[in-house]
Amino acid sequence: MKITNTVETLRAVDIELVAKIHATCFYDAWGPSMIRQVLDMPGTFALIVRRKNYSSIIGFALARIVADECELLSLGVESEYRANGAGSLLLTATMARATLERARWFFLEVAEDNDVALRLYRAHGLARVGYRLNYYDNADGTKTNALTMRCQLPE
Ligand SMILES: CC(C)(COP(=O)(O)OP(=O)(O)OC[C@H]1O[C@@H](n2cnc3c(N)ncnc32)[C@H](O)[C@@H]1OP(=O)(O)O)[C@@H](O)C(=O)NCCC(=O)NCCS
Repeated sequence: MKITNTVETLRAVDIELVAKIHATCFYDAWGPSMIRQVLDMPGTFALIVRRKNYSSIIGFALARIVADECELLSLGVESEYRANGAGSLLLTATMARATLERARWFFLEVAEDNDVALRLYRAHGLARVGYRLNYYDNADGTKTNALTMRCQLPE
């Protein structure tokens, strides 16, 4: 049986699940109340990927539109479901939503050693525009630099 993934807008009832996935993706985990706070900011939206035949949530994207710019705030897919197109689906849907809401630019920050994410972002037309020294904290107390990436959205 082929399992297809579907993208939906995050519902309040699913915030706890998204927080659980976030904690498996990032050292600096966002709990449910942090996610609610982010969603309360004007211009913010969140999408989730659901495995259609099983209905479980396997990934999320949080983004915020301010003026003509959309920033990808966070993107994550549960580790056992990665490399199967869910991240790409979420990014495509987030960019489409931003375009629909008349954003002209799409940007994000990413750890400079996150090869999988960098590959995903480049494949979607994002290019490096900046550099942030010691931007992310790591579990071992070290820090990782970030790249800022940007692309223009279609008219
Ligand atoms: C980055 C992330 C969201 C990608 O999600 P995903 O569902 O694996 O993405 P996709 O399946 O759409 O794959 C995207 C690309 O990465 C490649 N890829 C995915 N996992 C990979 C792996 N473990 N090794 C090598 N390449 C991999 C895919 O082949 C694909 O490249 P392609 O289009 O050239 O084939 C996911 O790895 C993740 O949640 N990582 C932890 C959190 C994170 O780093 N988020 C981004 C922070 S800015």
